[in-house]
Amino acid sequence: MSITTKPEKNSTDVLIIGAGAAGLRAAIELANKDINVLVLGKRKHGDAHTIKAAGGINASFGNLDPEDSWQIHAADTLREGHFLNDPAAVEKICHGATAEVEQLQSWGCDFNTTEDGKINQRYFGAQSFRRTCFVGDHTGKAILDTLVAKAKALNIPFRQNMYISELLTHNGAVTGAFGFDMDSGEHTVFHAKAVVLAAGGHTAAYIRHSSRPDENTGDGAALAYRAGAVLQDMELVQFHPTGMVQPEHFKGTLVTEATRGEGGRLLNAHKERFMEKYSPKHMELDARDVVARAIYQEIQEGRGTENDGVYLDISHKEAAFIKERLPNIYSRFKELDINISSEPMEVSPTAHYAMGGIKTDFETGKTSLKNLYAIGEVTAGMHGANRLGGNSLLETIVLGKICGNYLANSMEKQDFVSLDEEQIIQYQQELTSFIYAKGDEHTEDIILSLQKLMWKCAGIVRTEKLLMDGLDKLNALKERQQRVRSGDNPSKSLECALNLRNLIFCSEAILKSALMREESRGAHYREDYPEKSEDWHCNILCHQEQGEIKLSTQQIDQPGPKLKEALEQKHEMEYHHLE
Ligand code: FUM
Repeated sequence: MSITTKPEKNSTDVLIIGAGAAGLRAAIELANKDINVLVLGKRKHGDAHTIKAAGGINASFGNLDPEDSWQIHAADTLREGHFLNDPAAVEKICHGATAEVEQLQSWGCDFNTTEDGKINQRYFGAQSFRRTCFVGDHTGKAILDTLVAKAKALNIPFRQNMYISELLTHNGAVTGAFGFDMDSGEHTVFHAKAVVLAAGGHTAAYIRHSSRPDENTGDGAALAYRAGAVLQDMELVQFHPTGMVQPEHFKGTLVTEATRGEGGRLLNAHKERFMEKYSPKHMELDARDVVARAIYQEIQEGRGTENDGVYLDISHKEAAFIKERLPNIYSRFKELDINISSEPMEVSPTAHYAMGGIKTDFETGKTSLKNLYAIGEVTAGMHGANRLGGNSLLETIVLGKICGNYLANSMEKQDFVSLDEEQIIQYQQELTSFIYAKGDEHTEDIILSLQKLMWKCAGIVRTEKLLMDGLDKLNALKERQQRVRSGDNPSKSLECALNLRNLIFCSEAILKSALMREESRGAHYREDYPEKSEDWHCNILCHQEQGEIKLSTQQIDQPGPKLKEALEQKHEMEYHHLE
């Protein structure tokens, strides 16, 4: 790898950072309207975190339960988000769901269908009706493959292995992005009229998480924050109830909620079906926060397995059914010599999704910074304090389309803002200094310490003491971060150092926001404030002031009349359908 002094320069109308479902869906909308767009991926085309989304995508077709409607879907989303969601965003996304899923199907996404040829739908946690559309248990991959094929057919330019280290700004507006090519090391400038962040979440801040090691490292939130954008709800991190427990390299990997949606049961080490105690009505399909805390409690109270897990058992279902509905899970465990049609899996909670992120307007994708847009997991607002399974894939494609469409209609009137050349030189120098760092600390070790700290201090159960302790230890890690040493592979070292910088920022924002929210709501559980408080029916915002994280609160709008009406109907899941 060579470190050049003159950066490569590119220009495009719209630059999209992130090549998962959200980024590609926006790009397709722009390319369909003949707008110049360039998509940047941290990996190869088709290899993004979207492929890890397994069980499905929500859309209220009512193909199995005709009573369902987008209003009831929106009501479920808001109720399970404990009303921290932006109600207008929820309406918009749920309303747009069926058309977008049909669009994907028309582009070739092979959704499972019923005998009469309609899109099949399964139960997912805390949803009143069967509304999760699926392709086996690899829905995210099927959707991403569809979008990649469409993007290729439209000749949408794509740059792989690009690491964006900073957004470029001038006079308060975003002007593009700066980063390096992870293959050649080349510094690269992208000049754009608008930049769309579609760079995912930040759950890699936790030692057990459902993404791969170098993804969901908080790049999007950290880039936006450093450039001056406002973030929201950073304390709200979802712990999925069922991650794998062993072997080591699979720790945290998702065992899809579809396993419970298709009838899977949770048992403790004494083979007791413990959800009967925690949620007799909704059982294993209660909201993720409820089920994750129940598993946590079983383990804490000594009823977990030897590996600190519980059992997830679907062996009462026919092997052929399991292979059809859960082919990936079946074969993954089979390779580990576990036949899930005759024996249970061992699972425990895993950090899965960041409900917090960039404060975004869901009518357009606009952020608080001029010319900066955000879509997908990097945003905040749709999911409130606890996301419904199946709503993340949905958000990526509906908001991707909305944002792409908005930008396509506004590009003609928009000019490029000139680049600040001094800023580029400063960012180049920063990258170079990382490369030549000669300290005594290894970045990977610091990341590991950080992930353990976050799991312990800002995990499923939080207290003031734990959070304060977490902040103290984080400060010690920041000191170690000043003494890192670059390794033999400069590109890899740089990637790691930048990931660490982003993760440290996101962790600090999580800890501080979690300390501020003195209540329990959804995924944020404070043992010292175990009840929900009306005083905290607000979002916590976060922005940079003189180099420090500054927190404030924001009131939440009331739901509109249609959503209010659906909420008053008090629909809920009938678990006995699964028995
Ligand atoms: O369990 C799952 O399949 C996850 C889906 C989701 O988070 O939406």
